[in-house]
Amino acid sequence: MPTYPDAAALKAALDELARLPPLVTSWEIFALKKQLAQAQEGKRFLLQGGDCAESFSDCQSGLISNRLKVLLQMSLVLVHGLQLPVVRVGRFAGQYAKPRSTDMETRGEITLPSYRGDLVNGPEFSAAARMADPQRMIRAHSRSAMTMNFVRALIDGGFADLHHPEYWNLNWVGYSPLAAEYQQMVADIGGAVRFMETLAGVEVHNLNRIDFYTSHEALLLPYEQALTRQVPRQRGWFNLSTHYPWIGMRTAALDGAHVEYLRGVRNPIAIKIGPSVQPDQLLRLIDVLNPDDEPGRLSFIHRMGAAQIADKLPALLEAVKRDGRRVLWVCDAMHGNTESTSNGFKTRRFDNIRSEVEQSFELHAAAGTRLGGVHLELTGEDVTECTGGARELTDIDLERAYRSSVDPRLNYEQSLEIAMLIVRKQRQGRRPGS
Ligand code: PEP
Ligand code: CO
Repeated sequence: MPTYPDAAALKAALDELARLPPLVTSWEIFALKKQLAQAQEGKRFLLQGGDCAESFSDCQSGLISNRLKVLLQMSLVLVHGLQLPVVRVGRFAGQYAKPRSTDMETRGEITLPSYRGDLVNGPEFSAAARMADPQRMIRAHSRSAMTMNFVRALIDGGFADLHHPEYWNLNWVGYSPLAAEYQQMVADIGGAVRFMETLAGVEVHNLNRIDFYTSHEALLLPYEQALTRQVPRQRGWFNLSTHYPWIGMRTAALDGAHVEYLRGVRNPIAIKIGPSVQPDQLLRLIDVLNPDDEPGRLSFIHRMGAAQIADKLPALLEAVKRDGRRVLWVCDAMHGNTESTSNGFKTRRFDNIRSEVEQSFELHAAAGTRLGGVHLELTGEDVTECTGGARELTDIDLERAYRSSVDPRLNYEQSLEIAMLIVRKQRQGRRPGS
């Protein structure tokens, strides 16, 4: 937790926050929980993605609509390829706090508090910027509301070119060894959409309103708590700042404040699990967080890294399965694959991300469990932050358009490519003898 120097200012901000309208509703939360329960049963697939960290300055129409667009395009690839409805969840409208391994950062002679995300302080290396400012929680709430408002409007409006792959930016496909397969996939989607439109006599985007949900790491508890409310005719408490809060491994101690907080809200919740987690620890977390084995309530997002997943994941899957517990397993193929390049960039190799997703499908199949979704850090922009992919970005390319202030994200093309690879992998898994 950050230290707020002025207790009165903190209280004033939290009091104001507690009076402001919430960002989501309890019925949306229940609807998502139902969809996640279906994903647990293999009747849906979860796509969760967005920035590592949102920033106040990135609350811009173009960035928001491009990110929404790539997520929707990916979901269409997945719906078509997996023949399953997709649960769409953004890492946005509240992803403003970052966990840090150290409280302080030293540069040269100067030591200042670490940057903890725009919800807490500013990234500039100055004493003023790094001071924890409670008014930032009010700004984060406003920016989240603006983001939500725009996303809801775009979705209601139909995002006209979404269902027409001929308008997608697919130049990159030509660079992939799988070009022919991808072209075929895109042509099939276009054909399916036209078929539906002819059949129904209306454009597909008007057929029904799609659902889109939000998520963020529930890290800064005073913020989460101020937006945790009771609602008429429902028992218990709801985090109404987001549909689907998650906590990271760093804050998943059984007797810790974050687990205690999550225990008390009725939202669907998720926990990130890394290579250090022990099977017994997972079972205790389930005891505390989902004692009634409620469908859709609890997700485990594994983020082991391509190098460790085969070693670490099977024992966890086995333990949860043996105990007959109901969880949604999701693969975060980003956070276990972060590395630094010789020219000083934090990056992730596309091949490692791909490998972790593919190994996840295989390990779940071998364990008799089900991979119910993926969790990715991505943007709709043409950034160069992760290496590899169809255009084979190298360490040198990272200098061209590296914009993330925290973790490296898949760009537009790499994101669509991952969606197509997921479909490819699933199809191979289904084909007997392959
Ligand atoms: C994140 O999701 O950005 C993150 C910090 O992940 P983890 O807690 O899994 O390291
Ligand atoms: Co991250």
